[in-house]
This record gives sequence, C-alpha cells and structure tokens, in this order.
Amino acid sequence: MRERLLAAEKVKAIEWKDGQLHLLDQRKLPLEEIWHTYESAAAVATAIREMIVRGAPAIGISAAYGLVLGLKARLDEGGDWRAALEADFDVLSNSRPTAVNLFWALNQMRERLERLKPGDDPLAAAEAQAASIHASDREANLTMAQFGVDLIRKHQGNPQNLLTHCNTGALATGGFGTALGVIRGAHLEGLVECVYADETRPWLQGSRLTAWELAGEGVPVTLNADSAAAHLMKTRGITWVIVGADRITANGDVANKIGTYQLAVLAMHHGVRFMVVAPSSTIDMDLETGDDIPIEERAGHELLEVNGQRFAADVEAFNPVFDVTPADLIDAIVTEKGVVERPNAAKLAALMSRKRLH
Ligand code: MRU
Repeated sequence: MRERLLAAEKVKAIEWKDGQLHLLDQRKLPLEEIWHTYESAAAVATAIREMIVRGAPAIGISAAYGLVLGLKARLDEGGDWRAALEADFDVLSNSRPTAVNLFWALNQMRERLERLKPGDDPLAAAEAQAASIHASDREANLTMAQFGVDLIRKHQGNPQNLLTHCNTGALATGGFGTALGVIRGAHLEGLVECVYADETRPWLQGSRLTAWELAGEGVPVTLNADSAAAHLMKTRGITWVIVGADRITANGDVANKIGTYQLAVLAMHHGVRFMVVAPSSTIDMDLETGDDIPIEERAGHELLEVNGQRFAADVEAFNPVFDVTPADLIDAIVTEKGVVERPNAAKLAALMSRKRLH
C-alpha cells in the first residue's frame, strides 16, 4: 500500500527551497492555487494565524521552518543570536494555541540548537532539523494509513461508508494526511463505498479542502452539512467516523475541529465506530485531561460573513474553533507508534514509552 499511496500523491502545501518557505494559500482553495514565499519568522507566524497554512502537523512543520528563517536573520545581524532568537520562538508560539504540534516542533528546534557542538553550523543544523520534522511526519502518515486500514479490515471488510470532519489530508500535514491518509489507504484497498465529508462550518475545511483533495484523486466523496451527521448515521450505513486531532492529553481526550465532539456522541448512539488518527507529536503527556487544553476562539466575522459579505443579523458571535472529545467516546487512536483501542491513561503511557517505528 505504501508504494500505491506514494504514487497517488498529488497535493502538497509546504515547500522549503533555497532557504525560503513556500506555502499554498488554503484560504483561497479550491478556486485559486496561490503560493506565497516567506523569509521571516514573523511572516510565518502571521501565515499560521491567518490560516494560510493550517492543520496541526502542517502548523508544526511551518513553525520549524519559520524558526530557521528567524535564525538566519539573527545570524546575519551579528551579536548574541541565541538571545535574539527568543523573540522568534515567542512570535511563532503565539500564532495559534490549540495544536500542540506547534510547540512540539519548536521544542525539537530548541533542543537541536542546544546540542550544537563547537564548530557546528547552527543554520545547517536547524535546517536539517526542520527538514527531518517534515520528512518524519510524511513517514508517520504512511505508517498510520496502514494501521488504520488494518483496523477497518479487522472490524469489517466490505466497502464502507465513512464520515470525516475538517481537513486532515495532504494540506494539513507533511504527507498524505492522518485521518485522510487512512481514508486514502482504505480507498486503494477497495474498502470505501463513499466518504461523506462534513462541510465544517464556519471555515469550510470540508467543502473547500477535503472534498477537493479526495475528488482530485478519484475517491468517491459526498459533501454534507455538519448538521446532517445524525441523519447520515441513521440512514446511510456509516461504519466509521475518522477524524484527526490537534492535541491528545495523557488520558486519551482529544481536541479537534469544533463539531468533532458532537460526532462522537452521535456515533456512540448509532453504534458507529470512532477513530482518531494523529502522529505522536500530537500527544501532550504534560496535560492530564482535555479540560486543560487551551481552546482557540476566533473572530466572529468567520461566522457572520461569507467571503467578506455579511449575511447574519447584527449580533455578537461566539466562535470556538475546537472542542474536546472525551476518551470514553473513542474506539481507537491510531498513531505511527501503534494503535490504542478504548484509550485510557495507562494505554497512552505505554504507547508513548515505545520508540518511534521509523
Ligand atoms: O483550524 P484548523 O483547520 O487548523 O483545524 C484543523 C483540524 O482540526 C484537524 O482536524 C487537525 O489539525 C488534524 S490535521 C491532520
């Protein structure tokens, strides 16, 4: 399956070339494919905040490259580059609060710079570290796709109707995707009848990004309003809900795109299995439960307007963009280190003590 997944690869959102970061503007897709070039940490932080790049692993990878850009500028300035670089760590850390991959990737960069030996080239070391974060995310996607497909097959082999939320594909990662990587793999294995994609209000990651990625690869995809999920589970024979994650706490609670929690409640009621797919860089063992996860609230205009055009009444809007699904509503968490079924604190601790598989 690995080779077939690699052969099917079409979309990418992040490119590092000649010391510059290039990002595909996800605010414009699918109508326009516009790439922007970045040369400073602050500009990358703005791109993350404005969701030119989005999705937990993609945010982490971009932040790592953003730090390389910051380091280059600090070295060019002369003086104490380590002290000056703290401002770049800060600006990138403050771009978005929920996806722990951002902080994980910055931490990897910090640790690499702390391990420099006399005579080492800091810029070359940082660039190699960022490239390695990028490459290992792609590898993790491939491993998770295989694990997820095995899990689907273990429970039921026939072509199935799957439901997904938000965008967890090539646009959101360094590779093929987390949940969408499993869905791509399942399609290649002939296990998919239809993928139902929640439109994912208000930012429309489902209708703009997931539907575009899947349709572009010939995966049968049908779009539905988020509020159609219960009806779909009741009438369309959905067997699995498959989603990604922005942060998973030590007890197995999962923060993901707003609307994920209600899908898990609905899945439990309808006897539909619920799979979360995320690399181990999304697991935050420092937080005990999902109650500790900072939930990003974005500006009300994302709810009140479409394409800058106001359509809502003149009221305030409340726009939390993530929610937390309790571990006891989750059938399986799939990571590159292995699969945890019916997650709890002991199983997560055992998983995290394993070495990475690649
Ligand atoms: O606000 P977004 O688009 O960054 O939210 C993305 C999600 O919630 C994804 O499901 C999650 O980051 C996993 S992406 C592989």
